Amino acid sequence: MKRLFSKEEIEKAVDRLATEIERDFPQEELILVCLLKGSFIFTADLARRLKNPVKIDFLRVSSYGLSKESSGEIRITKDLEEDIEGKNVVVVEDIVDSGITLKAIREMLLRRRPRVLKICVLIDKKARRKVEVPFDYVGFTMYDGFVVGYGIDYAEAFRQLPEIYVIEE
Ligand code: IMP
Ligand code: MG
Repeated sequence: MKRLFSKEEIEKAVDRLATEIERDFPQEELILVCLLKGSFIFTADLARRLKNPVKIDFLRVSSYGLSKESSGEIRITKDLEEDIEGKNVVVVEDIVDSGITLKAIREMLLRRRPRVLKICVLIDKKARRKVEVPFDYVGFTMYDGFVVGYGIDYAEAFRQLPEIYVIEE
């Protein structure tokens, strides 16, 4: 495993993202939608940097299909508890690969008619993008490689690592 992003780099990125979000929603209430499980640490750090009044809610989906690749159809395994209609919503995602999961989540949440829906992604991984999803805030960009740490897992392991590593093949 090789370290890709240090604690300091992550802190700086989270700081910058919080500043960008605050600029877009000056003093307005936000609902942060943490996509489980991978975004739990990122969401916790981001929430603590934001000066806005914030509510935090959790969404977990699994994608249909057997292959490792997302199918584009999602099944909600834990739904939000907040009603997001008319609210400012920021979806917090750990990593975007094909983009298929996030695109499906975005469309599902837009049908609930939030006032604004923005998407905040910690890592934009470019190599295997299949569909375009518009994100509003991006922490890091990388081309390819399997990453773990800071909430992100490999077979449920390594989520607790405070920094982000890439697993070498
Ligand atoms: P997508 O639908 O292909 O964009 O799937 C994105 C999801 O796959 C992310 O939210 C992660 O849960 C998982 N994922 C993609 N790349 C990685 C990685 O490098 N490490 C761990 N999980 C990943
Ligand atoms: Mg995820």
